Amino acid sequence: MANQPDVMDKLVSLCKRRGFIFQSSEIYGGTGSVWDYGPLGVELKRNIKDRWWNAMVRARDDIEGLDAAILMHPRTWEASGHVAGFVDPLVDCKTCKGRFRADKLEDARCPQKPSKQPGHHDACQLTEARNFNLMFKTYMGALEESASIVYLRPETAQGIFVNFLNVQQSMRQKVPFGIAQIGKAFRNEITPGNFIFRTREFEQMEMQFFVEPGTDMEWFEQWKQVRMEWHLALGLSAERLRFHQHGAGELAHYARAAFDVTFDFGGTLGFQEIEGVHNRGDFDLTQHQQFSSKKLEYYDQLNNKRYVPYVIETSVGADRVTLAALVNAYREESVEGEDEGRVVLGLHPSLAPIKAAIFPLTKKDGQPDMAHQIVEDLRGLFTVDYDESGSIGKRYRRQDEVGTPFCITVDGLSTGDDTVTVRERDSLAQDRVSTSQLKGYLAQRL
Ligand code: GAP
Repeated sequence: MANQPDVMDKLVSLCKRRGFIFQSSEIYGGTGSVWDYGPLGVELKRNIKDRWWNAMVRARDDIEGLDAAILMHPRTWEASGHVAGFVDPLVDCKTCKGRFRADKLEDARCPQKPSKQPGHHDACQLTEARNFNLMFKTYMGALEESASIVYLRPETAQGIFVNFLNVQQSMRQKVPFGIAQIGKAFRNEITPGNFIFRTREFEQMEMQFFVEPGTDMEWFEQWKQVRMEWHLALGLSAERLRFHQHGAGELAHYARAAFDVTFDFGGTLGFQEIEGVHNRGDFDLTQHQQFSSKKLEYYDQLNNKRYVPYVIETSVGADRVTLAALVNAYREESVEGEDEGRVVLGLHPSLAPIKAAIFPLTKKDGQPDMAHQIVEDLRGLFTVDYDESGSIGKRYRRQDEVGTPFCITVDGLSTGDDTVTVRERDSLAQDRVSTSQLKGYLAQRL
């Protein structure tokens, strides 16, 4: 049961209007469940990826970064189990030509009679279920023949497994240690949707932590907590976050244990997975050893023993966290003494695409020049925006709606005493700050 309101339609509209997210190839009618990030969306998603990279790679000496290629040797996907097992059962309706997941029919609506699920309307003619592989296929080289088939990776994890020894040996890492990467993944989802929640092209932030067998459950518990804390530190509200444990029937073919971090997206979508934490055992390294005929063992010098490490995986979608951050931040509120309310994106300051907006109160008396000078002084340290059009109230509203934490106004006093007004987005509190102290003031609060 969802406790939170459904803000998705309002967000989709805000995201398009204010340059966060556009439908891909919109002028051609759009591409199914593929989205483009506009100027503010790309900053927001980049801030989320930076927070992840800083926490997972830069702040630790036991995790190394990697950027593996999207196109991998096709045997990779045989070894990983994706060629045989990365399938959804699919049914078609001969009447309406609709296509549905056979195991999720109760969540789908008949296009001709939306009050019923597919198969429950008299006119429905559903086919038998058949398995549909979610990997996108393409060809490498000039010849379109089966020998040259390659896949767009459906997860970034396999690029990490095949590089396990390269990274361990080149960086002289000792188990336990991890490898992390951020990159695109592709899945030909049958029922994508809910804006950027489930798309066919998305970005994953994955980390595989290699541990000695027997210590895996301890590390699994530790990583569960570390990852939940990361989401809380992004400002996602505690009441919207919850773990979901996978029961025996839900576990992926590789998993010994799994928990999802779920977030309450509100409305009927409710709590949904944003991150998976899995104990993958030695499944992947053992499979790659077998399919490549190359040993992927770790030599523990101290204890003079060799073993195939177990893997604890943390796998989070950059787009899903972006959506969660937007849903979490969206609010409408009335403002005391004003007729019109305001829409605010109460984003954590570190995620806000614009950190400070600078306004001259009027276009006269040297105010625009001084405001431009402040923009130039702050640029490089913070993402800033200059705006001189419309009333000051309208300019505040425009910045509230995109989550800008601070608005700086140059007014009649400013050119005389070198001070400006700094207004904070959430409390609406206004401080008078000297321009020479502006950088420090913002740095402390951001
Ligand atoms: N390597 C393990 C793995 O890929 P997953 O649960 O299939 O596990 C991990 O995916 C995360 O990737 C999910 O929690 C979600 O955030 C994101 N993700 C998966 N499929 C997605 C899709 N179609 N669109 C957007 N994000 C997706």
